[in-house]
Amino acid sequence: MIKVTENKVFELSTKRTTYGFFVNDINYLEHLYYGKKIDLNNEAFEALKSKQEFPIGNAVSYDEEHQAMTLESKLLEYSTRGKGDIRNPLVEIEYVNGSRTTDLKYQGYEIKEHVEMEELPCSRAKGEKIEDLFITLLDQENKVEVTLIYSIYESDDVITRRMEIKNLGTDDVKVLRAFSLQLDLYNEEYTFTSFHGGWTKEMKRYDQPCIIGSLVSESLVGLSSSRSNPFVMLSKKGCTEENGEVYGFNLIYSGNHQESVEVDTQNHLRFLTGINPTTFSYTLKNGETFRTPEAVMTYTNFGYNEMSHNLHGFINKHIVRSEFAFMPRPVLINSWEAAYFKFNQSLLLKMAKKAAKAGIELFVLDDGWFGERNEDDSSLGDWKENKKKLPGGLIGLSTKIHKIGMKFGIWVEPEGISEKSNLYKAHPEWALKLKDHHHSMGRHQMILDLTNDEVVNYVIESMRYVFSQGVDYVKWDMNRVFTDYFSQSLASEKMNEVSHRYYLGLYRILDTLTKEFPHILMENCASGGNRFDLGMCTYFPQTWASDNTDAVSRMSIQRYYSYGYPLNLLGCHVASHHNHQTLRFTTLDIRFNVALFGQLGYELNICDATRKEFNEIKEQVKLYKQQRDYFVNAKVYRSSFDTNNVTLSVVSEDKKHAMGVIMQHRIAAGKWEDYIRFHGLEENAEYRVYSKGYNHSLLRFGTLANMVSPIHLKEDRGLIKLLAKFVSMKEQGLEYNVKGELLNSFGVGLRPSYIGTGFNDKTKLFGDFDTRLILIDQK
Ligand code: DGJ
Repeated sequence: MIKVTENKVFELSTKRTTYGFFVNDINYLEHLYYGKKIDLNNEAFEALKSKQEFPIGNAVSYDEEHQAMTLESKLLEYSTRGKGDIRNPLVEIEYVNGSRTTDLKYQGYEIKEHVEMEELPCSRAKGEKIEDLFITLLDQENKVEVTLIYSIYESDDVITRRMEIKNLGTDDVKVLRAFSLQLDLYNEEYTFTSFHGGWTKEMKRYDQPCIIGSLVSESLVGLSSSRSNPFVMLSKKGCTEENGEVYGFNLIYSGNHQESVEVDTQNHLRFLTGINPTTFSYTLKNGETFRTPEAVMTYTNFGYNEMSHNLHGFINKHIVRSEFAFMPRPVLINSWEAAYFKFNQSLLLKMAKKAAKAGIELFVLDDGWFGERNEDDSSLGDWKENKKKLPGGLIGLSTKIHKIGMKFGIWVEPEGISEKSNLYKAHPEWALKLKDHHHSMGRHQMILDLTNDEVVNYVIESMRYVFSQGVDYVKWDMNRVFTDYFSQSLASEKMNEVSHRYYLGLYRILDTLTKEFPHILMENCASGGNRFDLGMCTYFPQTWASDNTDAVSRMSIQRYYSYGYPLNLLGCHVASHHNHQTLRFTTLDIRFNVALFGQLGYELNICDATRKEFNEIKEQVKLYKQQRDYFVNAKVYRSSFDTNNVTLSVVSEDKKHAMGVIMQHRIAAGKWEDYIRFHGLEENAEYRVYSKGYNHSLLRFGTLANMVSPIHLKEDRGLIKLLAKFVSMKEQGLEYNVKGELLNSFGVGLRPSYIGTGFNDKTKLFGDFDTRLILIDQK
């Protein structure tokens, strides 16, 4: 709800939060409050607003009439350069005379029904009554109008912000900084949390105390990137998963971004998020408007889990496309780690038939099906089938896959162009590169110049062909970062606009294709999670979160993504026993127990599975199908980190179902007890809590087998191996019937681990990186 009082106090309230600012004596907006819901009445306003009677030492007063108005000492709702605020500003503009001073004054406001942007991805009301507040500011002398736009998502405790800059003058103006959101707070020992990584190691959490000066998390690689995800948090000292105050922020944008925290000597903290100014500027002619991406913020005093729930609810309802929001996803099998570039149609069909028998529903043909693509060094841009591999083309293969009873999916990388391609021969100027200069290659390829409309149209046209070949799913990949920023189609003074204009081109492509093919399930991929952001999530209901399919690495990557993104957006695959990125061996159980906490897929040659493995896969697929209906909007709970065990649990919205996984990092000698803590279940409801039993190979006992064997088993003659074929050691599953209150306050104790002094069927063998999965159903 938006309330505006007579003395121009703006109160924006959601279910459990209040956000406030007011128009001060010089017609600037001062920030008042963002936090737990309060009544922002007149008395509260007086109590909250900054008190200053005199100028401060050598600080600058805004004008002679307002001596106490030193902008550097205020919490501001927006900021510019040149009028006394010396912190980094929300907006910076250069005028034709070289001046960068901007003096924006409040003009008025309007409340409208939610307005959606056309050229940029944004949040959508989707039937909910969402109010937008438009505040107009004007720099009278420079003839620049700035509009601050707030959208209030009451039920999710989310507020979004964006900004528009319009040139009303006759001279051009150059926008140098245009952030989407500024939040000024009094610093109360905040911690700034950002998530960084790289290829196969996305999303490691970094916590830094906000003391003095600036902390910056940013991407300059041309994509939102795995180096620095745009999702960040600010939390007060002592915040845990279950308790404490925390703000979460994200940006609906896929290019270079920057999130910063600046603390001054008065202990004011300024948070900014938006387009990274280092690789950006934008010239506006008379009458032209620049729109920033939309930024998202939430606040809670109930800890990180609750902050995630706010963002997850908002993303599922207002970011994910309607066709797929809350829709259970098909179990897929992907050809990449099964065959890489070495496949022909008969191998693909063999894999598909076997997969279908296991209950897998979607067959995805990954890279290598087009042009002369037998390695990763050619053919990007030539989106026509390689007839040697697919004699009947894509349509022939998709028809056959459909006959098997599966859906058909295809991989594309439409933004890339290989030097070895017909497209490059015909249009070398379509690559983002300097003519006749050396160009740095990434995976032997360049990037198409999407600032050029002709190129955008070519991509739409070529994808229109691919998408029309009986395709139900598309994996859209992008495998390099940007270098040599140069468009041969733009005037030189616009070169600093390339990185932003690229995304305007990409969003136009994605908008066109998703409107023309609304029912194709699209999965976003950029060498894994190099472009996992809310901009891409508006088009892609799923993201291939990492090229790392090792369950141990994935457990941490997925858990960290869950701070800002719902787990139901993450594609998670069970890959081969010896992982292709880490060479780590993990059991099929471990791989499945981790992949189950995402959208399940398989990425291995299922034809190589033993009969036992195949039956296990069949059981896994069955179990996933039982859970997937509620998983699409389940609440995720992370338990505070135990250094050796990681746990993650999800609870259905109606609290009728839940599941939790625990992963032990290293066998801890002498430690037999482990438990999984649950949260969010109905306190008084009765639940059945259960887990499956295991048959452990005798080989895991090594020569200990002799302690129970009547004859001496010599390992080197393989007798233990032989016996292991007939004898296995059982570990019984669990079964309890308990109330939600117990699960919420204690959790579920697992069977004791083997610790060297006996083993029976009520003991668990809990190896390095082992997992146990607990399922819960209300009775
Ligand atoms: C990178 C992706 O992340 C992989 O999953 C795979 O699709 C390859 N590209 C194909 O080239």
